[in-house]
Amino acid sequence: MRSVKVEDVLRGGYEGERVLLRGWVYRRRKTGGVAFVVLRDSSGILQCVAERERGEVYDIAKKVRIESSVEVCGTVRREDKAPGGYEVLLDDIRVVHMAEAFPINRYKSEEYLLDNRHLWLRSREMTAVMKIRSTVFGAIHEFFRENGYYEVQAPMFVGSAVEGGSTLFEVPYFDKKAYLTQSAQFYLEAFIYSLEKVYTVAPSFRAEKSRTRRHLTEFWHAEAEVAWYGNEDMMKDEELLMEHIVRRVLAERKSELEYLGRDLDRLRAVEAPFERMRYERLIEMARDIGVEISYGDDLGADEERAITKEFEKPVFVTHYPSETKPFYHRPDPENPSVVLCHDLLAPEGYGEIIGGGERIWKLDVLLQRIRSYGLNPDDYSMYIDLRRYGSVPHAGFGLGVDRAVMWIAGLDHINKAIAFPRTIRRLRP
Ligand code: 4AD
Ligand code: MG
Repeated sequence: MRSVKVEDVLRGGYEGERVLLRGWVYRRRKTGGVAFVVLRDSSGILQCVAERERGEVYDIAKKVRIESSVEVCGTVRREDKAPGGYEVLLDDIRVVHMAEAFPINRYKSEEYLLDNRHLWLRSREMTAVMKIRSTVFGAIHEFFRENGYYEVQAPMFVGSAVEGGSTLFEVPYFDKKAYLTQSAQFYLEAFIYSLEKVYTVAPSFRAEKSRTRRHLTEFWHAEAEVAWYGNEDMMKDEELLMEHIVRRVLAERKSELEYLGRDLDRLRAVEAPFERMRYERLIEMARDIGVEISYGDDLGADEERAITKEFEKPVFVTHYPSETKPFYHRPDPENPSVVLCHDLLAPEGYGEIIGGGERIWKLDVLLQRIRSYGLNPDDYSMYIDLRRYGSVPHAGFGLGVDRAVMWIAGLDHINKAIAFPRTIRRLRP
């Protein structure tokens, strides 16, 4: 007999039929002469019933421990009181593995659940998030491939910083030292001379000492780089990417979003185009709502939370003062004290999910910027070399995928958006 999935039973396809199901014991209880086993598989949960007259089946169902793996057989029938409206009247149950007492039973602290994430991963909450996350990753690849981008791969071991030295992870590398990559950007820039439009989805690493709700030390980064693009061209692709991701999740993961209590109307509002706002205007707006910040300050997590609570949709913030951004951003020809960059801030307090912009593509300007930032040109020889042979205007961006998942799923901490989060205090499990 072929096994069926819980979701197929709940769809009503097997009413009156005998089915085989495989899964894990989610809940178990006994009332009067009946034992209930709620079975969980990757697709959902389903009530199974064993009556006392069934003898051995009843005895097993009565005693099987939570999270044991089982195979059950029985007949599907409608039952309004069962979750999902169907149940299975058991005629057979086989315990594949009797679980030990499951360590997550009653209420447990967030810290305990993180310590046991390998087990908490089975919870309905984490299952819903992991399904949404899978859809988000799929939608990213789909968007890029449908829009003429080539997927490429960059190294994880690198020799120098992209996003500033303070968040570099140093690792021994034979008799030298290497760093873990902060961003694939410089390598993606090398690819545009042949492939023109490229993207990669890979981990990036940052030795973030700040403990915020939105920082991981290892996060998933979807980055793109495009020849002949300016800042505005890049933002146009990004808003379509974000719209595509959100639509896909709404189409495929509605029940998971609902399970997590997400307000779907907030997501339905995510339609391109998004507003473009200059940094200068953002600072004014922030001051109007009482945030203590002045022109030239970088926006921290708290400031962004306060400001983006006011937003209905994601907003692009452009033209940051150059000293708030890394050296590679192209200065605005109309006002060289600001750069042609953008951050995409997610609404509802979530804040920055994308950083990107136009790159300096002229050799002399790049050399001058590297020096004025006090950096050593020898560390950037590849990057400099790329401006020597047929350099072209180009732009790119990086999307923090875990942050996007956090926002779309409506989570209150980034460590709920990734299965095994890495933070300053957490390297296990
Ligand atoms: O703004 P960032 O630092 O930009 C770059 O790395 C560029 N080189 C990307 C590019 O243009 N190719 O990082 C990009 C995004 C941020 O907007 C944020 O969403 C995410 O990466 N991010 C993090 N996510 C989780 N934890 C961290 N510690 C993160 N640091 C950045
Ligand atoms: Mg940034």
